[in-house]
Order: sequence, then C-alpha cells, then structure tokens
Amino acid sequence: MKSQINVVILAAGLGTRMKSKRAKVLHRAGGLSLIEHVVQASSAIAPAGNTTVVVGHQGEQLRALLAPTGVRFVDQKEQKGTGHALLACRESLASEPGFVVVLYGDCPLLAPATLRELVRRQTSGSAAATLITTRLDDPTGYGRIIFGEHDNVRAIVEHKAATPEQLAISFINSGIYCFRADLLWRHLLEIKPDNPVHEYYLTDIVEILNRAGHGVAAMEVENSAELLGINTRVELAEVDRIFRERKVRELMLEGVTIQKPETVTIDASVQIGADSIVEPFAQILGNTIIGEESSIGACSIVRDSKLAAGVEIGPFTHVVDSEIETGAHIGPFARLRGKARIGAKARIGNFVELKNTRFGAGAKANHLAYLGDAEIGENTNIGAGTITCNYDGANKHPTRIGKDAFVGSNSTLVAPLEIGDKSYIGAGSVITDPVPAEALALGRARQLIKEGWAAKRKKKK
Ligand code: UD1
Ligand code: CA
Repeated sequence: MKSQINVVILAAGLGTRMKSKRAKVLHRAGGLSLIEHVVQASSAIAPAGNTTVVVGHQGEQLRALLAPTGVRFVDQKEQKGTGHALLACRESLASEPGFVVVLYGDCPLLAPATLRELVRRQTSGSAAATLITTRLDDPTGYGRIIFGEHDNVRAIVEHKAATPEQLAISFINSGIYCFRADLLWRHLLEIKPDNPVHEYYLTDIVEILNRAGHGVAAMEVENSAELLGINTRVELAEVDRIFRERKVRELMLEGVTIQKPETVTIDASVQIGADSIVEPFAQILGNTIIGEESSIGACSIVRDSKLAAGVEIGPFTHVVDSEIETGAHIGPFARLRGKARIGAKARIGNFVELKNTRFGAGAKANHLAYLGDAEIGENTNIGAGTITCNYDGANKHPTRIGKDAFVGSNSTLVAPLEIGDKSYIGAGSVITDPVPAEALALGRARQLIKEGWAAKRKKKK
C-alpha cells in the first residue's frame, strides 16, 4: 500500500532580511512567487488536498494567490519560529497516519525528483525522519548538521548558536524533512524556545527524537543550488538567475537559438518551437506560446501571447495578451497592447499601437498609427499616421474597415465608423460618416494657392 503523505509548507514569516513590506514568499523569481514554486514542487509527492500552507504575514494575499491550486491553509497568528509554525497544523493533521513532509516557502529551486527520493528513503527506512542536506563552501546563515554514529543525524545547530567548531561544518540543513507522522506530532510539543531569540526552532526536533531513542537519517544532494533558501534580495536575484539559466538551457537543447542567453528572460511556462531565434535582452513571459521558426527581436517583451510559426517580432516591440498568425511581421518599435489579433503575413511597423483590434491577413500598418477597438479587413493598407478616434471622452466605439481598402496617411477615423471594402480614404482626411465599398472619401479642406503672396506681404510692412 502507498503510504499517505501530507505536506506542510511554512510560509508565515515576514522575512525581515528582505527589508520589504511584502512577505518574503510573495517575492518573485523565475516568473513566479517563491511560494508558487514550492507548491508546484510539492505536487510531485502529494495532491493539493494533502498540502497545507502555514500563513501569517499577508496571509490574505497568499490565500488568494494559492486558492486555485486547491491547497489547504492554516494560520500562524504570531510568528514564533519554524517549530511553532508546524505546531499550528497539529490539530488538523495529528490524527492522519503516514508521513509528513515539511518544506520552507523560501526554497523555490527544489526539484520534484529530489522530493520523491526523500519520500522513498524515509518510507523504506526505519528512521523517525529523513532530512535533506548538502555541502556548501559558504554555509553562513544555515543550520549545521551534527552527525553521530553510522551517519545518524544527532542534532541541527543554528548558525547563531554554533560554536566555532560547529561553524566549520559544511553540511547544512536545507529545511526539507520527511517525518513519521506519529513521532512528529508526539514530540513536537517538546520543542522549547530556549534560545536568545525565544523562537521555537523546528530543528530542535532532531535532538528530541534522538533522545527518545529514534534515528534521523540524512539524504545528501549533490546539486546544492537546488536547496538555496532565500533570505535577502541578493539571494533572490541569484535564484532568479538560476531559474533563467535553466529555462534557456532547456530551450536551446530543444532547438531554439538564443543569442547572448545570459541577457534573456524567459518564464518557465513559456513554450517556443524549434528553429526560432531569440535575440539579446528579449523577455518572453507568462503563458506565451511561440511556434517554430519565429524570431523575437532584441529588447522586445512578449507576455501571455500566442505566436504561430514564422512570426517575426522586430527589436523593441511590446506584445501583451495577443495572437499573431503565421508569417506576420511586427515591429521594430511596435506595441500590441492587448487583445490584438494579427492575421497571417500581416505587417505592423514602427510606432504602431494596436488595442483590441483584429488585423486581417496580409493587411499593413507600417508606420505611426493607433488602431483601437477596430476590425481591419484582409490586405487593407493603413497609411502612416492613421488614428482611430475610438474614445469620445465617455465611451469607446468600434471602427470597421473592410478588405482591400486603402486608408491614406494621417487619416482621422472618428468612431463609430464603417469603411467599405476596396474603398479609398484621401490622405489627411477626418472621416466621420460611413464610407461605402469602392468609394473615395475625402474629408479635408481643399488646397488654395495664392500666387505672389510672399512679395505682397513684404510690401505691406
Ligand atoms: C531555517 C532553518 C535552518 C536552515 C534554513 C534553510 C530553523 C530554525 N532554521 O533557517 O536550519 O538551514 O532554514 O533555508 O528552522 N516561518 C514561519 N513561521 C515562523 C518562522 C518562519 O512560517 O514563525 C517560515 C518562513 O516564512 C520561511 C521558513 O519558515 O518560509 C523558514 O524561515 P526562515 O526564518 O527563513 O529560517 P532560516 O533562518 O532561513
Ligand atoms: Ca530561510
């Protein structure tokens, strides 16, 4: 029979060393908050219904953020240490059999495979608990592992309380443990806040279990980066860098060219097809999917968007919440502000902004335009400087332009407005009334010529 696993994630602390108003676990690295990474990793060993997150500082925000995952929550009203935080779960979990895995919410790089191995070792061994350790060249700040006979862990000594001899130990406590549930809940109450900061250290449980005659095993992990706990913004940046490096490496191995990968930011959830090219300093974020043979120009930002194959995004282009079909060309210096749908082989050029606009296949807006709440038909040409006046100061109105139309440069299209297929709008027009198909619309003052005007003006003076 498979052993029952409950996971508890401690996430109630403020994180004083972050010097932030925001709770530490809500800070982001690799495109997600720290706590989201930990919850994701924990799903490798237990369903969300068996996962409890201990919340305190900004508990409401944490609950709102994690509610969709289906995890459970317990409040730790005052933050009196990691032992005290786990104690908050005693009432709801103590009667459940099996094992309890404890994770800290500030340790986001943890790999699912490592957690599975931890559970495998603990459930197949005879120890009261197994904890994950690694060797660090600089173990400053971490608790140190004190080994006894036969690789048994005798105690964990916190950095602050360690003797010079203990400080020289390079085996650190990762804060990831798998306990036998019955022994954990029986002995957890014995932790006392007898340290200078009067905190209930969960780490004291190791000595307590030993005293009660139980063994505690250690599982050493070679890749110590996985166990980095974040306490400061310096560590936050370091962990973010590791996430970014992981992602670009994975993509490159799958056939994506990434130029100067150390400058590129790609969220873990992003998918990119083979033979696509990502230029330096590009940011590809959120739930973005990019097809094969596309390219993302230098310094462009693409967020929560769907790009088909062969799409070219020029440099310095901003694409948010939009869809772009095969072979379309956007930028450089273009902005798809949201809900833009660009048809196949369409072209959007520099300083063109689109919002909530369907832009037909093969249509072009090559320079300096604003198209908002609009529908533009196939193969229509939008001249430089065209503006849809979609807002009358109170409400937004739509503009519909048919296919194969030609909108002259610097046209002002006052919405609501319909412009028919194959029609022409003269350059510089202000168009307020519907334009039928195949018509020419002119809405501008006729040009006047006053011969010899300059000479007459001089004489007057
Ligand atoms: C802890 C360990 C240390 C280990 C290190 C690994 C203890 C006493 N020390 O130290 O041995 O090497 O992690 O990263 O456990 N939390 C609560 N309630 C509290 C206090 C903390 O929920 O009252 C949560 C925090 O939100 C955080 C986690 O527990 O996510 C760890 O707390 P933190 O203060 O960062 O512990 P460290 O000092 O890093
Ligand atoms: Ca920590």
